[in-house]
Amino acid sequence: MPEFRGPIAQSYVERDCQVVSPSYTRGYPFVMARGQGTEVWDVDGNRYLDFSSGVAVTATGHSHPDVVRAIKDQAEKFLHMSGTDFYYPVQIELAEYLTRIAPMSEPSQVFFTNSGAESIEAAIKLALYATNRHYFIAFYGAFHGRTMGALAFTASKPVHRSYFIPTMPSVTHVPYPNPYRPVLSGYGCLHPPDDSLHPQDEGEAVVRYIEEVVLGRKLPSDEVAGILVEPIQGEGGYVVPPPSFFPALRKLCDRHGILLILDEVQSGMGRTGKWFAIEHEGVEPDIIAIAKGIASGLPLGAMIARKSLMTWPSGAHASTFGGNPVSCAASLATLRLLEREMMDNATEMGAYLMRRLREMMTRYPIIGDVRGRGLMVGIEIIKDPVSKARDKVLRDRIVHNAFLHGLLLLGAGPNTVRLVPPLNVTQPQIDEALTILTHVIEAL
Ligand SMILES: Cc1ncc(COP(=O)(O)O)c(C=O)c1O
Repeated sequence: MPEFRGPIAQSYVERDCQVVSPSYTRGYPFVMARGQGTEVWDVDGNRYLDFSSGVAVTATGHSHPDVVRAIKDQAEKFLHMSGTDFYYPVQIELAEYLTRIAPMSEPSQVFFTNSGAESIEAAIKLALYATNRHYFIAFYGAFHGRTMGALAFTASKPVHRSYFIPTMPSVTHVPYPNPYRPVLSGYGCLHPPDDSLHPQDEGEAVVRYIEEVVLGRKLPSDEVAGILVEPIQGEGGYVVPPPSFFPALRKLCDRHGILLILDEVQSGMGRTGKWFAIEHEGVEPDIIAIAKGIASGLPLGAMIARKSLMTWPSGAHASTFGGNPVSCAASLATLRLLEREMMDNATEMGAYLMRRLREMMTRYPIIGDVRGRGLMVGIEIIKDPVSKARDKVLRDRIVHNAFLHGLLLLGAGPNTVRLVPPLNVTQPQIDEALTILTHVIEAL
């Protein structure tokens, strides 16, 4: 039985157990009553700092007044008309905004969805349609959602797949380049050192592995539609690839006419200090999938693609609720706040958070790695620095005890703690969160 911080939360959790699907992934019993910015309160009146942002969603903090006003104004005009069959200004304005900030120099177009998984489904379908090819490549550790198409690409935990087969049969997984835990660094080292493709590090080694093993021995390269990849692996453990990876991957895609499809569902919308995490890598994708932070908590997602790829005809793909007007209004207010001030704050506060965590890493050997970009930060919990053995039990206890002390965190991957506060988090709030985290680690 979980530990509660009050009787009212306990009674809600007991009622929930009776009527809500047990497949949800609750780690501790936080029952929310209200929130403002980075602060939230539970139904028993306890205050917490929310360094989860409702799984990286509340980009502008909880109930930002500008976002709430935009929602109210739109709700008074109309709630729904289905952008699939009709037109309304707010959806068009949002598409214009998104195509302006899309990380592609070529003009782009937008397909609206209600969630990350739906954005991935749209990306998969467009890639199939636009290329008339059928194979895909994805990465171990990836999380792209749990719908049957997205699930075929997800490979972060066996529980996601257990008994849910068959999904799409045409996806081949390869290792994601993890500088802290390289598995392929030796790959290709038997080749002469003057070989221009000689891998310098894990990033290039993975791309070489795709070229030589996947395309060389399994998949006909002219039948591969796309490579779906997260610019920072989220649920896989907040893994930032080496700088060599994306340029090499882009070149591989170009050599074979394969689409580079980016899952920016968790890393996008300013969280890393730029609109999209791929902008740190200096390459352009062909398609991107976004959701989560796009509308500060209202359900909305989007798939953005180069205009030249959007060749599908009317009826090929659509959604009744996708691009709901209230969500679009919330999104426009969100994007304006991010552009005006919060992306810069993410860069500044992210650097501060990372520096403080790296200082902690020198004091606590259970912190094996601190990584991330902007306010997408993870700390990997290990048994000891020599073996780097993953300590999932300790990670779970850290997350749970942080909750008991008023800090909401989430795990990521087998043994990483993720810190994803709203993008308007302040330095005093980071200091307060790290005081709690330090106390929790010392007590354990
Ligand atoms: C990178 C990534 N892609 C896709 C998804 C699926 O998003 P949703 O839960 O909105 O379907 C998630 C959710 O965590 C994610 O982190």
